Amino acid sequence: MDSKLPDTGMSIFAVMTQLANDCGAINLAQGFPSFNPDERLLELANKHLHAGANQYAPMSGVPALRHAIAKKTADLYGRQIDADTEITVCDGATEGLFSTIQAVVGSGDEVIVFDPAYDSYEPAVTLAGGVTRHLPLVITRDRPDFHIDWQQLAQSINSRTRLIILNFPQNPTGVILTADDLDALAEVTRDTSIYLLSDEVYEHIIFDDQAHQSLACHDELWQRTFIVSSFGKTYHVTGWKVGYCIAPSKLMAEFRNIHQWACYSVVTPLQHALADFMTLTPEHYRELPRFYEKKRDRFCDLVRNSRFTFTPAAGTFFQVLDFSEISEEDDVNYSRRLTREIGVASIPVSVFCEQPPPGRKLRFCFAKDDAILEEAAGKLCQL
Ligand SMILES: Cc1ncc(COP(=O)(O)O)c(C=O)c1O
Repeated sequence: MDSKLPDTGMSIFAVMTQLANDCGAINLAQGFPSFNPDERLLELANKHLHAGANQYAPMSGVPALRHAIAKKTADLYGRQIDADTEITVCDGATEGLFSTIQAVVGSGDEVIVFDPAYDSYEPAVTLAGGVTRHLPLVITRDRPDFHIDWQQLAQSINSRTRLIILNFPQNPTGVILTADDLDALAEVTRDTSIYLLSDEVYEHIIFDDQAHQSLACHDELWQRTFIVSSFGKTYHVTGWKVGYCIAPSKLMAEFRNIHQWACYSVVTPLQHALADFMTLTPEHYRELPRFYEKKRDRFCDLVRNSRFTFTPAAGTFFQVLDFSEISEEDDVNYSRRLTREIGVASIPVSVFCEQPPPGRKLRFCFAKDDAILEEAAGKLCQL
């Protein structure tokens, strides 16, 4: 049968997780916590399962959860959104990204992504008949972390550009946006009909007292923006696959037009549990940065005396390590060899890029118990 995605192999996360399992390696490749969620969240899920919340949820999500999302968005980002018309609960952020792209992108439209880019964007653009344009995040002398080259973005926009996809805090590099970046984005897109898709699944995992610059904070950008987030990352429940999309009502209407055919609605008891838990523990997402900052610091301390070089991640639960001083092998082969020979699985950063990124880089997930991080780092320090 002819493939609609002939150039897309199996997701690198599935490939490396399979290899890690086959080799009995420590899996720092796929981004999921090794620990359980808060016991109270599990009890709430149990309660709602037994209280009869077992039939279809409303297409847009259970009202209590939409109201909790609206409250959080107002509290954290100062944006008042309408829980009835501007929020939809999705089947994980993945479905939110997919449905947004299907809603916005048509045949021949161009979509700009920034490399290294999360791997689900391009297949969704291709299925919508669009063309993905990859712009590299750059490193410059005055700003030595990966960032957007605004001039390059301005020059890349043309009459076919329909959508720009952003992801900050960024997987895999861990870099974040500044308030100046939001203004620069507003300037570049002003007087265009370009939409923005902001993948903010790591919105609550940001370090060193930095504030997350959600596109919801910016009056001008908000008018053209779909924001997607994931409860999986925030509440240590990646396997629940519950996320959400927020957007101004006219955009959200089109989003729902796709969402209703993609999955219609999302697992009911877990939505109720998340709604209750968000209301009961607003401190959870406020404390999450510190929780993961400690893990980042622990992992970075553990590998500091290795031959890897790195800049500590500013956000996400990933740390990129550069192995240029250890090997000249390419990152794909090297990550496979590390998995097989020393028993630590990672993700090669080049798979997220059209052009190879500078250096030789692997992404390690530090959302793991300290004992796992210690064992993995011990092996990495032997290289
Ligand atoms: C940048 C980014 N976007 C989206 C997702 C998907 O989130 P979900 O598991 O809620 O579908 C992930 C998961 O790793 C991610 O890293």
